[in-house]
Amino acid sequence: MTALTGEHENGRHMNSSQHHGSHEDNLRRIHALILAADGPEEQLAAVIRSAGAELTAADLVDELASRADLSEQLAAPMAVQFELAFDGVVLQHHLLAGPKAEHRTGPADAPSASVELDLLDLARAVFGARHTAGHRTPRIKWHGIEDPARVLPAMAAFPVVQQLLRGLAEQPLDLAELSLRYGSDKWGLHYYTDHYARHFAPLRDRPLTVLELGIGGYADPAAGGGSLRMWKRFFRRGLVYGVDVYDKTAMREQRIHTVQGDQADPAFLTALAERIGPIDIVIDDGSHYCPDVITAFGALFPHVVPGGLYVIEDLQTSYWPGFDGSSQRLSDPTTSMGFLKQLLDGLNHEEHEPPAARRAGEADRTLAGAHFYHNLAILDKGRNEEGTVPVWIPRRRLSAEEIAGAQWAAEPQPEADPD
Ligand SMILES: C[S@@+](CC[C@H](N)C(=O)[O-])C[C@H]1O[C@@H](n2cnc3c(N)ncnc32)[C@H](O)[C@@H]1O
Repeated sequence: MTALTGEHENGRHMNSSQHHGSHEDNLRRIHALILAADGPEEQLAAVIRSAGAELTAADLVDELASRADLSEQLAAPMAVQFELAFDGVVLQHHLLAGPKAEHRTGPADAPSASVELDLLDLARAVFGARHTAGHRTPRIKWHGIEDPARVLPAMAAFPVVQQLLRGLAEQPLDLAELSLRYGSDKWGLHYYTDHYARHFAPLRDRPLTVLELGIGGYADPAAGGGSLRMWKRFFRRGLVYGVDVYDKTAMREQRIHTVQGDQADPAFLTALAERIGPIDIVIDDGSHYCPDVITAFGALFPHVVPGGLYVIEDLQTSYWPGFDGSSQRLSDPTTSMGFLKQLLDGLNHEEHEPPAARRAGEADRTLAGAHFYHNLAILDKGRNEEGTVPVWIPRRRLSAEEIAGAQWAAEPQPEADPD
């Protein structure tokens, strides 16, 4: 993971996730910027003033750097300077790009390139919806390009700046590739990424909140976070939260927040959802122990927004006794798949006969769809209260005589000619 540092106004270099205040304060600040980025110009400017223009500029440069994968392609270190105009002043930030990129405020000593842009345009391009992304392209100055003796080192900055500015435009991102790049097992050990790509595509441009249970790396505090980084990259306007029983504070970065807790604890999950919710997407990739899967669904599904999704991975454990699953008790609602099969009957809760045969619960009324794949379930949150078919439609199979005599089966008679 690229380590980015920004400089505090007091001159200290800080990790980008530590600019002023707590990590949750930083998330709130970024969230406000994301929401304002496709709103009216004055509103966006007001949000930037209230957060601090210098801090906002740092957040945006950090975001560009995190989208650029600089460590993958840099041999020699070089400085790229950003000159960002706002409220009549030009804010200067630079990235010391190299295998370990560093972000600092102020001008660089010997920049290879300078990128000039209006701060509002940068905010729109980075965090606005696609249709609001700035139409004004940045002005790039290549330092040394006029001097034949310096032209080759100057040209070495071309791919670095191109990678950095990629983050201003919508990029075609392949989830399998992101999964491998960031070290998730969602492609390879499993093949979930194509299903995610299909179901998540309509949500990709939204300012949303994603919560994943299970950060990865188990007891190693320095390991895991692969899928959190994958979601951050995929959802360019998303805040990504991860929960794990182990401390994963080291995995925090801009737009990624980690919380330590147990998915078997409904009070913890409810308090978390009340603090960060409403949630657009929940992904359960935690313990995969059947009772925990069911507990987490009960606590978190009510906090998913209408139109949001609840995903459960690794449903193979529903058949494994070591996870309280069973291949014999296939409809047992204490196994994950048995529980989900019951939910499916709730999708049709208005059709049960007699109607009192099923008393609709909250999940019945708010589960709007369900999609099942190998070891994966993707559940649609919504209103499931369309009403049943009309009462005159028989609730039993009719005999041939009844069908022939039924009013709705009669041939339409031609209307009598009034002349
Ligand atoms: C398969 S890994 C998650 C991988 C990650 N989502 C990814 O795709 O890169 C499962 C993680 O769940 C965590 N875990 C296990 N039991 C848990 C529980 N009861 N509550 C929360 N997290 C749990 C483990 O510590 C482990 O880090």
